Amino acid sequence: MATELQTEIPSGRLFIGGEWQDAASGKTFSTLNPATGEVLAEVAAGDAADVDRAVRAARQAFESSKWTTMSARDRGRLLYRIADAIEARADELARLETMDNGKPLKEARMIDIKESIDCFRYYAGWADKIEGEVLPVSGPYLNYTRREPIGVCGQIIPWNYPFQMAAWKVAPALACGNTVVLKPAEQTPLTALKLAEIAAEAGLPTGVLNVVTGFGETAGAALVAHPDVDKIAFTGSTEVGKIIQREAAGTLKRVSLELGGKSPNIVLADADVDAAVKGATMAIFYNTGQACTAGSRLLVDEKVRDEFVEKLVKRGAGMTPGDPMDPRTRMGPLVSREQLDRVMGYIEKGKAEGAELVLGGDRPDVNGGKGFFLNPTIFDRVTPEMTIAREEIFGPVLAVTTFADLDEAIDIGNRTEYGLAAAVWTRDVGKAHRAAHALRAGTVWVNMYHALDTGSPFGGYKQSGYGRELGRYALELYTQVKSVWVNLG
Ligand code: NAI
Ligand code: MG
Repeated sequence: MATELQTEIPSGRLFIGGEWQDAASGKTFSTLNPATGEVLAEVAAGDAADVDRAVRAARQAFESSKWTTMSARDRGRLLYRIADAIEARADELARLETMDNGKPLKEARMIDIKESIDCFRYYAGWADKIEGEVLPVSGPYLNYTRREPIGVCGQIIPWNYPFQMAAWKVAPALACGNTVVLKPAEQTPLTALKLAEIAAEAGLPTGVLNVVTGFGETAGAALVAHPDVDKIAFTGSTEVGKIIQREAAGTLKRVSLELGGKSPNIVLADADVDAAVKGATMAIFYNTGQACTAGSRLLVDEKVRDEFVEKLVKRGAGMTPGDPMDPRTRMGPLVSREQLDRVMGYIEKGKAEGAELVLGGDRPDVNGGKGFFLNPTIFDRVTPEMTIAREEIFGPVLAVTTFADLDEAIDIGNRTEYGLAAAVWTRDVGKAHRAAHALRAGTVWVNMYHALDTGSPFGGYKQSGYGRELGRYALELYTQVKSVWVNLG
């Protein structure tokens, strides 16, 4: 494919202390192109020994005068330069992301890479605005606070938005003056390596950003256990989030977790049906359903159910998966064979438990069946107790449930251990705000879905995790407060 030839695949080596290195063990693993099932690159399988080297490099950088005496404004300038450099290579990065992850090229370019540039610029602006306070204490004292960096941050990210998740983690951490060891997902390690290259070229001092590729149970776990890592920021499954919280207790690391979801998308009878149908298909099928905020539970008022489901199925049927490099493609494959099998397993469970399959459930004929493609799938007549209504599927599978009134919708909406996002579609402004307040989720959308902005906080209630990324809230994750007392007597 001509577009692929223009994209340079990174060497797949670890980036530690400003140098490209093999894993100490010499081991590598393959990352695949999910659209073809073919090997894209061999990548170093970092483990505890490599993590230890990376943490040492990050610690050294954290203590080096080059980083500690760099003015906040210069740190901001550096982040602006990184943003500019990402922008200059945006097309190349988007192609690499599509090849490694499978998402449509247009989305990779116009969402993932674009939003990442925005994220670096946003936190570049914050770097010299991280302020302390002077507090009115009793006595002849001056008391003031300083917001200081936490230190060495271990950042573990998933495969659904590989570059964007790296940006969300790295940009605020650097703006606040920390140093980083980044562990990308084993399914999609390539663009994180590019970020390291770009940041170094933009002038980021040696050791400030290190990237260790490898598996969760080895590289990831070693980062969580390492005594010289001060903080872990994690995005991924709730299951692994629990392991990380437990393992971090040994060294009392600070932890922030952005985990799974089973977000309710509520359509009231008075909603603009066509807009809600459009929103509901995008809510679940965007990124092939591999979004932690995916609107995977559609709760629709029983009064409009028949019309709604009919239109939904029609629109969903138009979302046929295709080659993600093709600019017309709106839905790519799932990220891996494992993810495809997992999602197919849920489809079987949905059928076995008595939900009515009204769309998809099977695989399309794309690329001779070699990629990990799955058709958009909709189950109707799903009850809240069914597995497909309770567990995060992370694929293009929608569960439709009906309700009688708003109170019941909110009750069903909140009947989940997760609390990442929710949405409500209605023309009634009172009902909209009532729902927005009553839904136990970190983000609530009204008459829209999947909106995000670098300036607005993002994170979970309940078992969707804690800590808020984006906006000024991320500064809380990457700074700690020191109280300084001066005796004026
Ligand atoms: P995962 O949670 O295992 O992987 C996410 C990251 O954590 C990867 O970088 C992985 O290497 C790392 N990791 C895994 N085990 C670790 C450990 N013991 N210690 C430290 N780091 C570790 O997710 P996975 O297995 O790729 O996907 C399974 C399910 O998780 C998906 O089907 C989906 O439901 C959910 N998920 C949710 C995401 C979200 O954005 N909330 C993102 C990815 C997956
Ligand atoms: Mg891959």
